[in-house]
Amino acid sequence: MALTKGLKLVQRDAGGVDLAFRGDVLAGLAEPQKAIPARWFYDDAGSALFEDITQLPEYYPTRAETEILSSHSGEIAELIGKGWAVVEFGSGSSVKTPLLLSACQPSAYVPLDIAGDFLRASSATLAAKFPGLPVYPVEADFMRRVELPGEVADFPKLGFFPGSTIGNMIARTATDLLRSMRATLGEGALLLIGMDLVKDEEVLLAAYDDAAGVTARFNLNLALRINRELAGDIPLEKLRHEARWNDIFARIEMHLVATDNIAFTVSGTNFVMRKGESIHTENSHKFTKRSSQLLLAAGGWEPRARWTDEARQFSLVLAEAARPRSAP
Ligand code: AVI
Repeated sequence: MALTKGLKLVQRDAGGVDLAFRGDVLAGLAEPQKAIPARWFYDDAGSALFEDITQLPEYYPTRAETEILSSHSGEIAELIGKGWAVVEFGSGSSVKTPLLLSACQPSAYVPLDIAGDFLRASSATLAAKFPGLPVYPVEADFMRRVELPGEVADFPKLGFFPGSTIGNMIARTATDLLRSMRATLGEGALLLIGMDLVKDEEVLLAAYDDAAGVTARFNLNLALRINRELAGDIPLEKLRHEARWNDIFARIEMHLVATDNIAFTVSGTNFVMRKGESIHTENSHKFTKRSSQLLLAAGGWEPRARWTDEARQFSLVLAEAARPRSAP
């Protein structure tokens, strides 16, 4: 498997356009069901809006996962033991990461993120909070196997992937990611992963279509970003945010729906949308105990323990790297 170390992570043309962004947008808008990968939500404005979403009364996942980490920290720490190198997939949150680090007293902390500036800023904040803890940030695309710093080679590895970001991937991509994590962390590794749970449709729809309209702004910011970065003229006033529950795939979908017949240009390519047609911008899969176990097993992880918040809205699963074996 290819290592990401040393690769140039973002490739731009002479005008500074992110080539992967343009490629994904042009290909996605040409599909019969228009779709753009959710990772493009997170420019500076999108990241700030996501932070606002996590504070919304309707958006329960952040609060529920934080509750699990604080109320079960003793049990989690006891199961895991001390001295691990905690490898976080993503830059780390100012609340959840400290809760885990204080509980399990690791020997090192290695945050992995593709966004270098954000990674360095959050690593510095964390290092200041835990003065004795060696912090080794790695700028990398963790969707592939990542080479970890030599300094942590001899420590057992505990992967941390909170937030149910795994739910933003379709099963094939989620499985590939779990297998890459296993390859990055190696034999004997553990993974502590947040997985949001299937629940009442109304609760889910409200979490992804809040009364204050923050999630709508987050969704529409993608079209704004396309207009700004890819010389687009998408008429934003003729798109509306919609959250839908897809029961077959057990996921919330976010769409930008055309409120009229529209025509627009992106990077010199023309597109049309009929009234009611949508651009599918995000999937957020929700899990049951079984479906989470099945996904983890497909990705090479054996669940060992599982915690939920009091209201059973969200789960945190501890899994162990499965040993290869020749079972049927
Ligand atoms: C980042 N991710 C886990 C969020 C979620 O809940 O799927 C993204 C999000 N989209 C709308 N609200 C939050």
